Amino acid sequence: MGHRIDETSLDRLFREARTYSKWQSRPVTDDTLRDLYELLKWAPTSANAAPARFAFLRSMAAKKRLRPALAPLNIEKTMTAPVTVIVGYDLKFYDHLPKLFPQSPGIKQLFESNPELVEATAKRNSSLQGAYLIMAARALGLDCGPMSGFDPAKVDEEFFAAGKPCFGCEQEFFPEGHVKSNFLCNLGYGEPGTPYPRLPRLPFNEACSVL
Ligand SMILES: Cc1cc2nc3c(=O)[nH]c(=O)nc-3n(C[C@H](O)[C@H](O)[C@H](O)COP(=O)(O)O)c2cc1C
Repeated sequence: MGHRIDETSLDRLFREARTYSKWQSRPVTDDTLRDLYELLKWAPTSANAAPARFAFLRSMAAKKRLRPALAPLNIEKTMTAPVTVIVGYDLKFYDHLPKLFPQSPGIKQLFESNPELVEATAKRNSSLQGAYLIMAARALGLDCGPMSGFDPAKVDEEFFAAGKPCFGCEQEFFPEGHVKSNFLCNLGYGEPGTPYPRLPRLPFNEACSVL
């Protein structure tokens, strides 16, 4: 605790990491996807609720199901990416709280009776977990292309509606549509050379205040 990681790692994670839209043919293995989740799962969420759900689309069949929901500018980069992950959130995340947050037995009921709190918690924390996924991917040597240019209602209907196969769930099929999409992220090994130079970022005094 308390000491900085080395400069090369900081470059990899932040200063030199770019958003990619062209991909090498090198595949992303199942083991790498597991390594990715095994890292990102440790980063914090409120009440340890971990509401994000990740659907990793790798087969062409799965990508074709996604295609009609994509904004035109996102089609080619997504269809050619080795993997596209749908970062979703489970509106029934509170069902897992007795296991994930056992020191607070009343918390499941608190969420169950407050749909607005559920929605805000699920969106905030699944966005955080999506960001953790990006940073974990970079730490593992992968490149990312996050995207919000898609129709979430179409994605939810195609992948998360009642009766659809419930990958990663205990049930075989979704009993009801309680998983919603937040954003998409292409994953792979980026083709060197990004299409445009690094864009500026707000300087400290425009984005921060110290009170
Ligand atoms: C949540 C999110 C949504 C984004 N949506 C899109 C998108 O739909 N299409 C796209 O081409 N880029 C998208 N981007 C990429 C951003 O434009 C890009 O990350 C930003 O300009 C910084 O580029 P850099 O990482 O190369 O510095 C998105 C990024 C994030 C984090």
